[in-house]
Amino acid sequence: MSSESDVAVAVDALRAGELVAFPTETVYGLGADAANPEAVQRLFAVKGRPADHPVIVHVARPRQLDELGRDVPDAAHRLADAFWPGALTIVVERNPGRVVARVTGGRATVGLRVPDHPLARALLEAFGGGVAAPSANRFGRVSPTTAQHVRADLGDDVRVVLDGGPCRVGVESTIVDVTGAEPAILRLGGVGRAEVERVVGRPIRLRTRGEVAAPGARQSHYAPRVAVEVVDASDVDARARALTAAGRRGGLLALADVVPEYPDGLVVLDAPRDVEEFAHVLYDRFRAADACGLDVLLVVNPSDADALGAAVSDRVWRASH
Ligand code: TXA
Ligand code: MG
Repeated sequence: MSSESDVAVAVDALRAGELVAFPTETVYGLGADAANPEAVQRLFAVKGRPADHPVIVHVARPRQLDELGRDVPDAAHRLADAFWPGALTIVVERNPGRVVARVTGGRATVGLRVPDHPLARALLEAFGGGVAAPSANRFGRVSPTTAQHVRADLGDDVRVVLDGGPCRVGVESTIVDVTGAEPAILRLGGVGRAEVERVVGRPIRLRTRGEVAAPGARQSHYAPRVAVEVVDASDVDARARALTAAGRRGGLLALADVVPEYPDGLVVLDAPRDVEEFAHVLYDRFRAADACGLDVLLVVNPSDADALGAAVSDRVWRASH
């Protein structure tokens, strides 16, 4: 685990225009000074990210919403009050003086978030400004939820990696865009649609599939190499037999109480006890499925009745396409 002195090193690196990987409660981020165009260019190069894909800017304090954003509507303030620090990204108009255009792929808007992790908060507090940070994986790969995942993906391309242990939530933040006439959810994540609607005081549209609402949120992202297949609990046995008969190695990821007996021949990647644990282990088990060379990973999705269940099902759906 990283200490206070590691945070000081990380702050110096950010000030020098270098990249710093850091833990948040959702996933690890790869950070650069959001006001430094060269640093942001380096960030896109290391990440391998197309220049038109906007990056979320992380800040220490909710009031920075009005400093890095402008013409911030009341709904955004209410969302920030309710969920920050936390797993919610709010898209508002960008203040060009504080967030360089390159961060948002030239867009006039910016996604802002106050993460809830002691190391992230210490880093952002000491740095003071906005830190542009996509998930700390190479473009198109599974988001990292441990410092080891970051190292495995980025190697020596990032000099400073703050280690805050495994991320508590395990899937990315929910993104709400409040710049249009109607607020919309661009990505499901740690905060649920119903919670967002309660705070905003009206129904919110989901724009998470189809049109490129949040560029980069395409299916192929969030995907391991293994073929992911969504199955009903009642079909697991039959699929296991078919895979075995075909000489293919299958794995299973399902809630323990949904598939209490593991069929022969399946590698049990995990049997989380609840949806929190499911989200927490999801990306690590995607990586494990690749590492153990599975041909197919069967996933029984949790119910999407609550926030994390919907976010897990969304990521599994993307991984399966
Ligand atoms: O939990 C998270 O959000 C993590 C941690 C590190 O904060 N970050 C993360 O960043 O997942 P990234 O870059 O992997 O995904 C950000 C998503 C992308 O799909 C991007 O298109 C969308 O947010 N996004 C960012 N700024 C946007 C904007 N101004 N308008 C629309 N979509 C935006
Ligand atoms: Mg990402």
